Amino acid sequence: MEIAGKVAVVTGAGSGIGRATALALAREGATVVVADVDDVGGSETVGLVHDLRLGVGGGIATYVRTDVTEPRSLEALFAATEGEYGGIDILHNNAGLVSGEPLWPDITPETLLRVMNVNLGGVVLGTRLVIPAMRRRGGGVIVNTASMAALFPLTPDPIYSATKAGVTMFTRACAPLAEEGIRVNSVLPGLVDTALLAKSGDGERWADWAVSANEMMGLLAPDDVAQAVLDLIRDDSAVAEERVVGTAPAVPGEPVVPGDEVYAG
Ligand SMILES: NC(=O)c1ccc[n+]([C@@H]2O[C@H](COP(=O)([O-])OP(=O)(O)OC[C@H]3O[C@@H](n4cnc5c(N)ncnc54)[C@H](O)[C@@H]3O)[C@@H](O)[C@H]2O)c1
Repeated sequence: MEIAGKVAVVTGAGSGIGRATALALAREGATVVVADVDDVGGSETVGLVHDLRLGVGGGIATYVRTDVTEPRSLEALFAATEGEYGGIDILHNNAGLVSGEPLWPDITPETLLRVMNVNLGGVVLGTRLVIPAMRRRGGGVIVNTASMAALFPLTPDPIYSATKAGVTMFTRACAPLAEEGIRVNSVLPGLVDTALLAKSGDGERWADWAVSANEMMGLLAPDDVAQAVLDLIRDDSAVAEERVVGTAPAVPGEPVVPGDEVYAG
């Protein structure tokens, strides 16, 4: 799909990977709807997109406060997008979080439910609820943010691994939507330099697993992931594809082998 002139919705776009994708899409000439529960971060992303007007192309963005765990909130997001911009061509289901401390098995049931509802529920609901708008448009592209933690067990945060594995299998199972012109794909980033890493520990300090992962794999920039998302949007042959970003484990289930580069940037 050609990105220029299209309408894109990005969840979790108030920070990190979602912000980088929103900006990359805007730079390519897409209109971007920034969806997040963080009003400050979401508005900042819109401001950064508006700043692009000073350069070439792009520069149109709106923030819509959205909780991806709430079907009504997502419905309102998509209705507002269609109402303002006439349709939806691209959805990046990206909002997500790690459990943070206390880690497994001392994590609270409430946090377990929250991680499930945001990371997996938000992707499933977002995909389901955008379909009518994409049908009206004659097709579209959905990219779901999974994680390399879908490929190997993140033992200190099993629910994170489980939700991300769920996102990849959900994405695969959505392959038949391509018959209606709706392509669903996923990105599986390694460790990315975003605010999420501090949330892996006590809110300020990284969890030990994140420190070890950094030593093993190094840190990606949010823009590395954004470029993989844009590649999947552009590539009309990409259907139910899992795009690993960074250094992947050689064999799923085996430890990560540094230098086993599958895809970078
Ligand atoms: N940072 C990494 O190392 C890494 C690696 C692999 C995958 N990911 C995934 O990338 C995605 C983005 O993470 P990030 O690293 O940019 O983190 P981040 O914390 O910088 O951004 C996540 C954004 O999601 C938003 N969000 C949280 N709950 C929400 C909800 N219910 N509704 C709407 N928005 C909500 C947050 O407010 C935040 O702005 C997540 O799905 C994450 O699991 C991150």
